[in-house]
Order: sequence, then structure tokens, then C-alpha cells
Amino acid sequence: MDMNSINIEEIVKQVLAGMAGGTKTGTPAGKEIPKTAKVAVLTGLENFEVKEYPMPEVGDDDILVKVEGCGVCGTDAHEFKRDPFGLIPVALGHEGTGEIVKMGRNVKKDSAGKDLKLGDKVVTCMIFKDNPDITMFDLNKQNVGGADVYGLLPDDDIHLNGWFADYILIRKGSTVFNVSDLDLSSRILIEPCAVLVHAVERAKTTGILRFNSRVVVQGCGPIGLICIAVLRTMGIETIVAVDGEQKRLDFAKKMGASKTVNFKEYKGIEALTGAVEAAFDGHLADFAFQCTGSPAAHSNIYKFIRNGGGLCELGFFINGGDATINPHFDLCSKEITLVGSWVYTLRDYATTFDFLKRAKGIGLPMDELITHTFPLEEINEALKTNLRMEGLKIAIINQ
Ligand SMILES: NC(=O)c1ccc[n+]([C@@H]2O[C@H](COP(=O)([O-])OP(=O)(O)OC[C@H]3O[C@@H](n4cnc5c(N)ncnc54)[C@H](O)[C@@H]3O)[C@@H](O)[C@H]2O)c1
Ligand SMILES: [Zn+2]
Repeated sequence: MDMNSINIEEIVKQVLAGMAGGTKTGTPAGKEIPKTAKVAVLTGLENFEVKEYPMPEVGDDDILVKVEGCGVCGTDAHEFKRDPFGLIPVALGHEGTGEIVKMGRNVKKDSAGKDLKLGDKVVTCMIFKDNPDITMFDLNKQNVGGADVYGLLPDDDIHLNGWFADYILIRKGSTVFNVSDLDLSSRILIEPCAVLVHAVERAKTTGILRFNSRVVVQGCGPIGLICIAVLRTMGIETIVAVDGEQKRLDFAKKMGASKTVNFKEYKGIEALTGAVEAAFDGHLADFAFQCTGSPAAHSNIYKFIRNGGGLCELGFFINGGDATINPHFDLCSKEITLVGSWVYTLRDYATTFDFLKRAKGIGLPMDELITHTFPLEEINEALKTNLRMEGLKIAIINQ
């Protein structure tokens, strides 16, 4: 074997680091850690540049991860198009996953108490820095808003801050989960799935959502489709999906919706409500999930729900404008129980791992949600594909 001097130098360094009780390195054959890392940096509107930075030191509490892939989120698309958070230059990508190749000596367990070792596959969730009051188990909605995430951090002198990269440095105060028992596509889908696990948890607080409920899911983008999947894993079978795109409605059927309604085929809310009612064999829904960002869709959905039913509104991650309802007919006299749902908690993240295993176990086509993949070098095209609303989930996959 022809070992060049760089390899020898690297091996000596690793042996010395190991003797000093510093970091553990995992360099099985073919997995040498390079001297530089590639990071896709959004340097201007609609312009990523793949930059190379020196591989950073891995501190006693840090984890160096070789990135395998990362999903493209609506938030990335907003940032790419308009920079609403004022982050440029920024390393984006928060739906990522990869393999631990180096870790500090203080790193022993993940945020759920599972052992961590070299070679494990991980995902990250929120970053709480050094706040000792926040743990996996006391986390509540109030403090979720104050947390950071990799992929939406300001640039710093480490630069490896987002998952659209070939390496990322996970630092002290981060939440990290060992998800070695999930395949790559499941790991990429964890973040969007957590949104729906949380929404269904919120829906359950109404006491109305039960295993034999009639449920309407309005909007069959990735969010609505995953909503159907979560409901199916809970044993809910009577699900009517509403959308205007036939291809998406067909996918909703594959995901387990019992009937679909194409709203474009009906003129006026009365006809549409009649179609939903007919799909439930003459009943209105016990519960509804609103999974579009359309104010008109919010106004409509109350009509599909029976007296005493429930509604979970999760479609407005960002401000989509005002919606009109009639408080007497839509809410008061019907005694609708309404919950809002926004992102997720750490606890939902852990539940999501089990959801993904169960979804695959009962044969739901979760993998097919990832319709387009691109290498890191084609990240601009990946984001543009997302903005053109082609396909469902777009992902960057590293070779
Ligand atoms: N609550 C959260 O934390 C959270 C997280 C992520 C996304 N979201 C929101 O969820 C929404 C859906 O996300 P997505 O990625 O699936 O988006 P998407 O745009 O891919 O899907 C929305 C779907 O709604 C359909 N639609 C539009 N108007 C409709 C109407 N009047 N009736 C029925 N269907 C209609 C569209 O045809 C489309 O298929 C977005 O608005 C997003 O902001 C919320
Ligand atoms: Zn996301």
C-alpha cells in the first residue's frame, strides 16, 4: 500500500490526540477526515457558493459529523429568495443527518440518554447553549421560541453551521439524537414529520380525536401527506383529503386517505361541503387538520366540521394574511374546539423516530415523499426546484 506523508502525519496526530485523552477519531479505511470542509453558503439572494473552510478543531464537548444528506425546507426557500431573517452570509440546512467521525472526550450520550459512538448516525434539533434549566423532559412551548437551530445561525469563525455541507461541527449545548436505526430517507424526513407529530399531539388535547374519528385533512403538500401518515399510524382510517392537485390527491390515497375531494371540481363552499359530507357517507368530520397557507382554506374548513368537532390549524408557519370567519356560525354555535400548532418540542422529536419506524412497518410510502435529490454542488438548482413547487420533498444527498 502506498501511504503518502499526509496520511502518516494524520495518523500520528490521531494517535497523539488519543494518548492525550483528547478527541476520539474514527478513520476506518476510506474515511480519512480531510483538511477542509465544503459548506454551501448563501452569499446573496438566490445564490449559494460552495466554499471550503479549514476543518475546525473538535473540542472536548463537540461532535464532527460527516453529512450524508439534508432536506430542503420551506424556510430555506424563503431565506434563499428574500433573506427575511437577515442572515446572509449563512450556511443553511436544518433537516440534515450524517455520521459521527470525531467526538470530544466529554461526549458520551445523546439528548435522550442513548450512547453515542463513532460511526453513529445522528440528527440535531434545537440549540440551548448553556441553559441548564432546559432538558428533554421539561421542555415546553415557551422556551422553544428562544432556541437556535443549525442551518439558521449567523456565520462565525467555524463556518460549519449548517447541514448543506459535507461536514458540520455540533457544539456544546446542542441537542443531538442517535438515529442509527433509521435509514437515510427516514432521517431526512424527521424534521417535517415532527411538525405533524406535534400537531396530532395538540389535536389530542381536545379530547375529540379518537381512533375511529372521521378526519378531514385539507392540503396535500408534504405537510398534509405526512399528517395522513401520522393519523394512519394511530389507527385512524376514515380520512378525507382535500386539495386541488390531482397528483397530490392520488398520493394522499397511497398514504392512506380513504377518499379524496378535488376542491377545483366544486363551485362554492356549499357544493364543496356537500362533497366532503358525501365522502364521509353523509357525515361531517369529527376533526379537521388545516394544512395549507391559504386564508380562504382556513375560512372554508369550519364548514366541513360537525357540531362539537375539533380543528387543528397548522398551515400558517409564516404570516399568510387574515382570514374571515363567521364567529356565530363557524365557532360559537357549533362549539368547535380549535387548537393552533407551531413547530414541535424535543419530546415530539423522539416520538417521531418511533412514528417513522411504524409508518414503514405498516407499508406507508414515506420514501416517495422525497421526489428530487441533488448533490451539494447543485444546491442552487435544488432551491429553485423547491421554489417552482415541483415534486414534494427535495433533498441534497452527498456522495
Ligand atoms: N405549523 C408548523 O410548524 C408548520 C411547519 C411547516 C410548514 N407549515 C405550513 O404548512 C403549510 C403546508 O406546507 P406544505 O409544505 O405541505 O406546502 P405546499 O404548498 O406544498 O402544500 C399546500 C397544499 O395546499 C393545497 N391548497 C391550497 N389551497 C387550498 C384550498 N383552498 N383547499 C385545499 N387545498 C389547498 C395546495 O394545492 C398544496 O398542495 C404551509 O403553509 C407551511 O407554512 C407549518
Ligand atoms: Zn424545516
